[in-house]
Amino acid sequence: MTSDTTLASKSALSGSGGSKPAVRGRALNDSAAGQPLLDVRGVTIQYKTQHHLITATYRVGFQVLQGDRFVVVGPSGCGKSTLLKAVGGYLAPTEGEIRLKGELITRPGPDRLMVFQEFDQLLPWMTVLENVVFPLKTTGTLHGKAATERAMHYIEKVKLTDFANSYPHMLSGGMKQRVAIARGMAMEPDILLMDEPFAALDALTRTRMQDELLLLWDEIRFTVLFVTHSIPEAIKLGSRILLLSPHPGQVKAEINSVPRGQENSNEAAALGREIHDMLFADQIEEAPHAPSANAPGH
Ligand SMILES: Nc1ncnc2c1ncn2[C@@H]1O[C@H](COP(=O)(O)OP(=O)(O)OP(=O)(O)O)[C@@H](O)[C@H]1O
Ligand SMILES: [Mg+2]
Repeated sequence: MTSDTTLASKSALSGSGGSKPAVRGRALNDSAAGQPLLDVRGVTIQYKTQHHLITATYRVGFQVLQGDRFVVVGPSGCGKSTLLKAVGGYLAPTEGEIRLKGELITRPGPDRLMVFQEFDQLLPWMTVLENVVFPLKTTGTLHGKAATERAMHYIEKVKLTDFANSYPHMLSGGMKQRVAIARGMAMEPDILLMDEPFAALDALTRTRMQDELLLLWDEIRFTVLFVTHSIPEAIKLGSRILLLSPHPGQVKAEINSVPRGQENSNEAAALGREIHDMLFADQIEEAPHAPSANAPGH
């Protein structure tokens, strides 16, 4: 990655925080229905490597309400995974804060469960059922029969009852992802964090998984924070879409998606073009800065 940007140089580029992001559909601080479930405020996250200070996200703010399907979309390297890891409590922001139900996030917890892109997130020596039961037991959430029943309930929800006693190597990539989703859901977390969970699937399986996730949401109304760099996926899955600018990620816009089931409508196509243009415009705007930002002595 050549576009390392220190916080200092980014501040110089964007003045006092850069241009204001476009917010449509509800205000950023809309908490009319009570406090937001997840409140991300002014979050800058940096990685320190041996020679560089890399700013992954810069003063990102958004609020996720109960039952939101909140999708973060942005180009590769804009800090989506970084942001999700910070919400998961695996990384601490350099500035700003993240609160869940008003409580500052300082470490990982069973109230925030993560589903990753990789297929190998299951324990290979455990069956599907054992994989789903495992976090229930280790966190002390449930034990014995109660844990098994809870696990089987969610395994059924992802339509894998017949594979409860199979091992991960006996499953397809899509099935493994469904186990990972069942494992996350079984903990009944306050918020499910999903980092491009369908990105490595073939197109057909991906579409089916998206449909299944939406059906599951219809039934359980969980809150999900979903990361993708696919605009159509963001429009289909999201109720709310946060658009991040290229590296380092800043909030470009926060918008409502189209209503459920209308991802093939003209309105969805127009929204897709609008999102695409916002990302593309950013690349054009950034081009003149690129040589000077990387030039020696600056
Ligand atoms: N452990 C790390 N050490 C140093 N830099 C890192 C580390 N992890 C990520 N980065 C850098 O932080 C920036 C954001 O990375 P991140 O993985 O969050 O992007 P992303 O939006 O998830 O990208 P993608 O869509 O490709 O998954 C990138 O410039 C990346 O190189
Ligand atoms: Mg990522």
